[in-house]
Amino acid sequence: MAARVAIWVACVLVMVATCQGRLRVGYYHRKCPPAEYVVRDVVGKAVRQNPGVGAGIVRMFFHDCFVQGCDASVLLDPTPANPQPEKLGPPNFPSLRGFEVIDAAKSAVEKVCPGVVSCADIIAFAARDASFFLSGHRIRYKIPAGRFDGRVSLANETLAFLPPPFFNLTQLVGSFQAKGLDVDDLVVLSGAHTIGRSHCSSFTDRLSPPSDMNPALATVLRAKCPANPNFTNDPTVVQDVVTPDAMDNQYYKNVLAKNVLFDSDAALLSSPPTAAKVAAFARGKWERSFARAMVKLGGIEVKTAANGEIRRMCRIVN
Ligand code: HEM
Ligand SMILES: *[C@@H]1O[C@H](CO)[C@@H](O)[C@H](O)[C@H]1NC(C)=O
Ligand SMILES: *[C@@H]1O[C@H](CO)[C@@H](O)[C@H](O)[C@H]1NC(C)=O
Repeated sequence: MAARVAIWVACVLVMVATCQGRLRVGYYHRKCPPAEYVVRDVVGKAVRQNPGVGAGIVRMFFHDCFVQGCDASVLLDPTPANPQPEKLGPPNFPSLRGFEVIDAAKSAVEKVCPGVVSCADIIAFAARDASFFLSGHRIRYKIPAGRFDGRVSLANETLAFLPPPFFNLTQLVGSFQAKGLDVDDLVVLSGAHTIGRSHCSSFTDRLSPPSDMNPALATVLRAKCPANPNFTNDPTVVQDVVTPDAMDNQYYKNVLAKNVLFDSDAALLSSPPTAAKVAAFARGKWERSFARAMVKLGGIEVKTAANGEIRRMCRIVN
């Protein structure tokens, strides 16, 4: 406690960026010069081996930032003191993947600069790098860093803040607004559904009429999915049937053709302004906007030295 007060006093006196929670591009430039290269190297190898983990990491960044801010709270394992962390919340378990890649990146970074680089920044870098590789290097951006890792992780907060796939546009806009993101960010970031997979249970309600899913896609999915998926029988299917592993603007063409899995995807057509954005991204120029929105996502409720730490291992608090 005394230490925390001292940190705050120091912050007020000198106003250093790390204390204020202001993120900075090149934050590790002097603290740990190889940090971003080391992460990119680990992520590149993992994504080449299995593009699916790249999709998992992009989603992980979203799920981290929407719950307790971008603070790596999603990485914490259950403990006797906290048996139900975010990781076990329904939106994350069992579907969220890529944790081993973050572990590998963290241990590679710890080898070169122990105790310097936060797990929260590693997720942000890794999501950026996964996007870079999956887009054939078309999505490239600098992301500010300097996030600290949180100590609080509660499964019940996942359902409170992460929008479920059956949300309508009003509800989606509301959940993004609650995190300081606007309707444009919603349209742009939904484009992440151009990669990765979904469990059948996330969309089975849309496979029988009335549904505005393209009937041809519904027929294909009915053949792949059980009528009533459950924990022991819940296959996965690709989200983008045209270019499943490519991070491109195909998602928006799929939305227009009603070839998308979720109500939340289809809902983007339910207002004239969002439908116009979908049509524009279907024509092109999505990547730059996506990069900007990922940076904005990465700024949500960031923790500082005053309320966070640099975890030694990403799965447990220090
Ligand atoms: C707009 C509200 C959103 C909803 C309702 C939503 C919902 C979902 C659902 C239900 C899945 C499938 C999970 C499963 O059953 O396995 C999924 C997958 C995915 N989501 Fe979202 N999502 C949203 C926004 C986002 C955002 C903002 C991003 C990232 C910027 C994102 C990235 C992904 C990725 C990459 C996958 C595939 C993951 C994998 O293959 O492991 N989603 N999403
Ligand atoms: C989650 O659970 C904790 C205690 O387990 C409680 O203090 C908190 O209010 C709950 N949050 C929500 C959003 O339900
Ligand atoms: C969206 O869902 C909410 C909650 O169920 C409902 O009150 C609202 O009318 C719906 N909005 C639209 C545009 O369908």
